[in-house]
Amino acid sequence: MSDDLESKIEEAIKNPRNLGEMKDADAVGTVGSADCGDMLRMWIKFKEEGGRKIIDRATFQSFGCQTAIAVASVATEMLRGKTAAEASAMSGEELAAPLGPLPPVKIHCAQLVEGALRSALGGEEAQAAQTKSTSPTLLDSFGAHAKSQTKVKVVLRATDAVVSASRIHEQR
Ligand code: FES
Repeated sequence: MSDDLESKIEEAIKNPRNLGEMKDADAVGTVGSADCGDMLRMWIKFKEEGGRKIIDRATFQSFGCQTAIAVASVATEMLRGKTAAEASAMSGEELAAPLGPLPPVKIHCAQLVEGALRSALGGEEAQAAQTKSTSPTLLDSFGAHAKSQTKVKVVLRATDAVVSASRIHEQR
């Protein structure tokens, strides 16, 4: 991993943008990686502007590696102002672009973010309603995975009721 990429990821981890559950979201999507067991959930809120329905805000929670958190942080910033069609056309590579090219071993981290975004845009309101009423939280969803993991770090931010967690990965 290049020094530049590492420092951008470090910066994003220190000050992640758009971290946390969005109570009034119009859409929510969750995706898990079968390869590494990481999970990411994304919430999206739309607004009407100039006759177009565009993304007003996107937030995320992650039980993922630092790269996934950094990609989600920059991606949720980039999504603002895009239509659902424009957003769903974005690849993991495009969502991670502000960080620079990812090494091959980290490409699936950006694909996790792309998957959560597509999941949210694929379900929109119906999915959001279901998650609000019956779906487990990301923490609950992660429970089953966590039972089989040995190294887990959970970071709680009491100030805005945000729960974030980051698995401590062994160096890959
Ligand atoms: Fe699995 Fe990054 S999302 S290692």
